[in-house]
Order: sequence, then C-alpha cells, then structure tokens
Amino acid sequence: DDYQLGDHPDFMRKEMHEQPEAVRRALMGRLDERFATAHLGGVGLDPHALRSVRRVKFLGCGSAYYAGQLGANLVEELARLPADAEPASEFRYRNPVVDPDTLHVAVSQSGETLDTLAAVQELQRKGGRVIGVVNVVGSAIARECGSGVFLHAGPEVSVASTKAFTNMSVCFAMLALLLGRVRDLSVAHGRRIVAALDALPDRIAEVLATEDEVARVAARFSAAEHMFFIGRVRGWPVAREGAQKLKEISYVHAEAYQAAELKHGPLALIDERMPSVVLVPDDELVSKNIGAIEQIRARGGPVIAVTNTKLPDGLADAVLTVPRTEPELDPILLTVPLQLFAYHLAARLGRDIDKPRNLAKSVTVE
Ligand code: AGP
Repeated sequence: DDYQLGDHPDFMRKEMHEQPEAVRRALMGRLDERFATAHLGGVGLDPHALRSVRRVKFLGCGSAYYAGQLGANLVEELARLPADAEPASEFRYRNPVVDPDTLHVAVSQSGETLDTLAAVQELQRKGGRVIGVVNVVGSAIARECGSGVFLHAGPEVSVASTKAFTNMSVCFAMLALLLGRVRDLSVAHGRRIVAALDALPDRIAEVLATEDEVARVAARFSAAEHMFFIGRVRGWPVAREGAQKLKEISYVHAEAYQAAELKHGPLALIDERMPSVVLVPDDELVSKNIGAIEQIRARGGPVIAVTNTKLPDGLADAVLTVPRTEPELDPILLTVPLQLFAYHLAARLGRDIDKPRNLAKSVTVE
C-alpha cells in the first residue's frame, strides 16, 4: 500500500491537510460553468427522470448521516425539493414506507457499513430508487446501488472521517445543483454556486492555514469535561459533526444542540465549566446566533464562536474565523476548524488519534 504518512504525525492530520486536493478531485470534470450545473453521469438519471424526483432522502451512519443532513439542506435550498436525512440503522428497522418518487441517497465512505448496506437492500426489496455516494470503488454499497457518485477522496485511514465528510458535502452540493437546474434554480444563481465550488479548495487551504490559532484555542479549553456544539439550520449539521469529532478522538463528552432548543432544557447545564462552540455563519440568522451566544455568556458559559464575519468585540471568549463563500456552502468551510479543534484537543490529551478506543474504521457488523 503506497498511502504513507509522509511528514505527518498521524493519518488524521494528513487527511485534513489533503482536503483541498481531495475536493479538487471530486470536482474535476463535473462542473459546468456555461449551463451552471454539474455533470454526474453515474447518477444515471436524464433530465426527465431528475424532474420526476419529488423528495430526496439521505441515509448513512455517524458522520455520513450528518453529511446527509448537510446535503438535505443543500437540496432544499438549491432545488426547493423536500429533503431529509435519517440514520440508515433506524431506517432498516422501522419498516419504512417507501415512496417511488423519492430519490434515496446511500452515503458511505467505506461502502461497507452494514447498516447502510441493509437499508439499501430494504429499499431495493420495496422498489425504491437509490443511488450511492461512496468513496471506495468496488465496495459492497457501490455495487449494490449500481449508480451514484464516487467521492474521489482517496484512501481514508484515520477512524475519524475528515476529507470523506468534506467530499460528501461537495458531492451533495453538485447533486443539489443538478436537481436545481432542472427546476427553478436560475443560471445566475447556479453560476455563483459553480464558481464558489471551484474556489472551495483554496478557501479550505486558507482555513487549514489557521491551524496554529485553532490549536491555541483547543489548548485553552482542553481541561473541559463537557462541551456543547450549537448551531441552527446551516450550522446544525456542522455542530453535530463537530461534537462527533470531539467525542470520538478526545473522549470529551460533547453534545450538539440547535440554538433555539437550549432554552427548552439544556441551558440548565451552562456554567463556567461548560464551554459552547457556537456556529455563526453570516446569513439571515446571524443576529439570532449572536443572541444565543449572549444567552450562554449571561449564564457564565465560555463561548468559542466559529464564524465568517466580524463579530462584536468581546462577544465570545475565542473566535475561529473562516473565509466567505456562497452562504449555501458555508457549512462546508465551517466544519474544517472543528476538525482541527478536535484534533488538537485530542493531541493535547495524548489520545491515540487514528485509532480511538472501542471504534473501527468501518462497521461491518450489527
Ligand atoms: C466518522 O468520524 C466516524 N468514524 C463514523 O461515524 C463513520 O462516519 C460511520 O461509521 C460511517 O462510516 P462509512 O462512511 O464508512 O459508512
């Protein structure tokens, strides 16, 4: 196997830093600037079939499920089609009602996750339409689906998924663009998304260049035993993925909450020993998210804000900043500092980053 660590101390760090290149590979030959769409031939649906899709459902496990939530938001925003994500493990057990007009998207880095494979098989038994968004070519889920989109992320060795999550999100943006452009997404809007996707590798490289600052912030908060990750709408799947990364490699207890849900219970947990990482994309909800930070700090909770805008001075205890892109793509960039944050916090605690306890890279059993 010629996939080597090189100068990196572990695979997670190598794979985080490969993201600009991985995204370039995912985009290669797929963006169409002229018609403001994406070419995803493997999906196997002509414009007529694409137009017959009435709903999109993403199915995956763990980070692939959270990426699916990010994808569902993109489909709703760009294609104005109802979309959601569900853990593949739940789907397979709840005797799902399968609607032939729904496009199901099975999401998996390894292509071998048993719960996701079983969801695909259940769908096929019931005559559902399913495509795979998979990294490993020739894997069980890729073969079972027979059509879909390959991530082209390259090998991912670290148990904690980084570049595969990012490439899933990028592939979902292209799928949303494709579905949008056979509906009501304008050429002008589509072109803005195409241009922003094209520039994304450089923007991700800019986030990776802030690693030292993220490491300093992670060090400041490395004594915490619990953390909240707070986001809403576009920030919500990012918060879930950020909490997941921190849990799995640092063993720090992390919980993701939608900002507005805090006051319905979890706010009771806020005190000076409970830091919150709050996602603040500069979109129409920015003032609501600033309000959430004020609520947390008024109760003594430290806040790390992750944003792409200039926040009022002194609003948060620490601020991690990412560059701007099109607002629909903000979640993709906002995820990267959370990967770095989890990584450096875990490194500081001396964890075995690539092989966290109790976990396997791909879960091929029940
Ligand atoms: C990600 O960091 C996790 N290790 C895990 O949640 C993973 O995403 C999940 O097990 C799904 O794996 P897959 O993408 O290979 O199907």
